Amino acid sequence: MKKLLIITIALLSLSVARADEGMWLLSKIKQLNIDKMQEMGFKLTAEDIYDVNKPGIKDAIVGLGNAGRPFRHFCSGEIISPNGLLLTNHHCGFGAIQSHSSVEHDYLADGFWAYKMEDELTNPGVTASILERMEDVTERVNALLNDNMSEMDRNIVIDSISAVIVKEATQGTQLSGQVQEMFEGNQFFLFLYTIYKDVRLVGAPPQSMGKFGGDTDNWMWPRHTADFSMFRIYTAPDGSPAEYSKDNIPLKPKHYLPVSAKGIKDGDFAMIMGFPGTTDRYTTSYGLENTMDVTNDIRYKVRTVKLEVMREGMEKDQKTRIQYASKYASCANYWKYSFEQNKALKQLNTMGNKQAIEKRFTEWVNADPARKATYGNVLNDIQKGYADMRNYAVATAYVQEALAGPEAHLFAYRAGRMIPDLCDKTVTPEEKAEIKEALKEMAKAFYKDFNTEVDAKLFAKLFKVYNDKVDADLHPDIIDFINKKFKGDYDKFANQLKTSSIFMNEEAFMAFLEKPDCKKLEKDLAYRAGKSFYEMWIKLSAYTGEMQEKITKGDRLFVRGLMEMEPEKAWAPNANSTIRLTYGKVGSYKPRDAVFYDYYTTLAGVIEKEGPKGGEFEVPARLKELYAQKDFAPYGNEYLSVNFITDNDITGGNSGSGVINAEGHLIGTAFDGNSEAMSGDIDFEENLQRCINLDTRYFLWIVDKYAGAKNLINEMTIIK
Ligand code: ARG
Repeated sequence: MKKLLIITIALLSLSVARADEGMWLLSKIKQLNIDKMQEMGFKLTAEDIYDVNKPGIKDAIVGLGNAGRPFRHFCSGEIISPNGLLLTNHHCGFGAIQSHSSVEHDYLADGFWAYKMEDELTNPGVTASILERMEDVTERVNALLNDNMSEMDRNIVIDSISAVIVKEATQGTQLSGQVQEMFEGNQFFLFLYTIYKDVRLVGAPPQSMGKFGGDTDNWMWPRHTADFSMFRIYTAPDGSPAEYSKDNIPLKPKHYLPVSAKGIKDGDFAMIMGFPGTTDRYTTSYGLENTMDVTNDIRYKVRTVKLEVMREGMEKDQKTRIQYASKYASCANYWKYSFEQNKALKQLNTMGNKQAIEKRFTEWVNADPARKATYGNVLNDIQKGYADMRNYAVATAYVQEALAGPEAHLFAYRAGRMIPDLCDKTVTPEEKAEIKEALKEMAKAFYKDFNTEVDAKLFAKLFKVYNDKVDADLHPDIIDFINKKFKGDYDKFANQLKTSSIFMNEEAFMAFLEKPDCKKLEKDLAYRAGKSFYEMWIKLSAYTGEMQEKITKGDRLFVRGLMEMEPEKAWAPNANSTIRLTYGKVGSYKPRDAVFYDYYTTLAGVIEKEGPKGGEFEVPARLKELYAQKDFAPYGNEYLSVNFITDNDITGGNSGSGVINAEGHLIGTAFDGNSEAMSGDIDFEENLQRCINLDTRYFLWIVDKYAGAKNLINEMTIIK
C-alpha cells in the first residue's frame, strides 16, 4: 500500500509538470540547476553555457544599456552571426528607430533595412554589455559588515570594498566591473563585462508589424507581433570596445547563436538568457500593500490622464506623433502593467500567500531564543516603516508620476544651473562660449521631441492632480504659488507659462541664449516649477530616510531568516539587471475556467485580427499579399508560426532575450508576459505564468521574404 502510494505520488509529480521559478546566476548553474535542466531535455553541459576558461553561450548574450548607466540594462539581445549581428525586440529598438525618424523618413511607419553595412545607422549613447566572468565575493564583503551598523555606514563600507574589488579585477584590462548585492543585501557578486559603445541599427519591420496589437494586445496572449529589431556591434580595428568611428569593424564574437528554423512543439525544453530588471519576490505583505495601493494605483490613475493628453496631441499631426511615439509607448507599457498586476494580485490572493509565509516565519523564529533575538522584531519593524511612510510614499509617487509628467521644467532646471554663468563678469568670454555651446546641444536634443501645446496641457492637468491628491503640507512651493497667484486655476497657470517662459519653445530658448538676461531666470515659471520639484524631491527623501532604512534592514533580515529556515532549498535572487538564466518548456495554459490557450499562433491570426489603417491592428498590404501567396518555405508549410509561449521565469529587461533549445540553438526572442500572471514579479505563478516569444521562423521569414534582406539571411547560421 505504502509503496503504491509512493509510486502514485511520483507519477503525479511527473504529470503535474512543475514550472521552475528562478532567474539563476550563471556561475551557480553547475551546482544548482544543470541536473534538472538535463533531466528536462537539455543536451549540453553547464560549461557550454558559462565557463571561466572557454567561450560559451553567455558570450552571445547582450545587455543593452545607456552610456550614463551602462549596468542598468533596459533590454537584452543575442548575437546571431560571426559579424556581431544582434537580435532584440522592436520595442527595445523603438527609441533608436524613433530617433532616426522624421516626417520625411518615417522608419517607425515604414520599417528600416540596411542592405549593406554602410547603411547601418549609429546610435550614440547605446551600449552593449557582454559578460566576461562573474564571481561570488560575499565573504569578502560580509567580513566588513555587521548587524549593528547603521544602514548609512553599511553602504559606505559596501561602496568602498566594491570599488577595491572592481579595481583589482579590471586594472590593465578593457573590462568594466560592478559588484551587485543579491538576496536583499545578504550576498554580493562581481560582474565583469566588456561594454561596446558602437551599436548600429540594421533592421526593423514597420511598427504595424513590430508593435502589432498595440496597447490592446500588450501583456496579452494570444499574440501576433513581430516584436524584433536588429543591430550590429562594432569594435575598434583591434577588437576592443570603442566609441563610433568610421574605421570601426563589426564585432568578431567569441560565440554566436545558430538560428533554428526547425520549429518547436509543446513540451520542448527552452531556456532564456538575458538581463531581467527587477522582481520583488521576497517582499512582505506590508511591501505588497504599498505596491498595490500606492505605486500601482497612483501610477495607473495619473498615467491615464497623461496618456490622454499625449494621444490628443499625437492625433493632430504626424510630427507630434513621431515625437511622442516612444514616450507614449513606455508610459503606456507600465500603465497597463500596474492595472493588470493589481487585478492579478487580487485574483490570485497574493496577500494571503505573503501572510502565510510570514506566519511560518514567525513560528520558526519563536521556536528558538537565538532566532528570536535576531529576527524577533523584523516584521514589526517593516510594518512600522511602511505605516510611518505612507503619506510620504503617496506624495513621492505623485511627484514621480504627476510633477515629473511634463518636461519643460525639468529641462529648465538642468539648463538653469548653467545659465547664471552666462551673465557672470568673472567668467571669461571663452568659457561663456563653451557653456552656450553645451546649452545649445542640450536644447537640440530636448526640443527634438517636444511640443509646446502638449507640454502646457500636461502642466495644467498633472499639477492639478498633485494639488488635488496630496496633503497640503506636502505641497511644493510652486503648487502654493499657483493656488495663490492663479487662484488655483491650473489652465491659467499653464497658459501664462506657455506664453512667458523661455523654456517652452526652442526659438525662445535660443533667442535667450543669444542675449541672456539672467535676472529673468528666477522668475521664469518653468524654472520655478523645476526648482520647486527638485526641492520637494530632496525633502521627501530626507523625511523618509529613517523609515526607508528600517524597511531595507528588515527586508534583509527577513530574507536571511527565510534562507536559514529552508537551507536545502535552491534559492534564486531577485532580478537586478544582471545576467540570468531561466529554464522551462514550451507549453499551453488555461487562463480561466473553460478557456484553453494553445502554445503558438500563426500568420492566419494576424489576418483575422486585421483592423483599420492607422490603428493598432493595421496589416500592411505587402504582408497580406505574401500571406495570400502562402510562400512560407523553408520557414513553414501550410502555416507560418508567429509567436509561442514558454513557462520561463522572466521580467522587464529580459525583453529581447534569446530563447534557446536543448541543442543551444535560437528558437525565439522573448518579448512579453501574460496579464493573468502579472503578479508574477511578486509571486511566481507556477501554472499560469507564461513568457511570450517571437518564433525565429517568423523573424527569418520577414527578413527573407518581406524585407528581401538576403545579406542578413546569408550571414546567419540557419538550422533547417
Ligand atoms: N510589455 C512588453 C514589455 O514590457 C512591451 C511590449 C511592447 N509592445 C507594446 N504593444 N507596447 O516588455
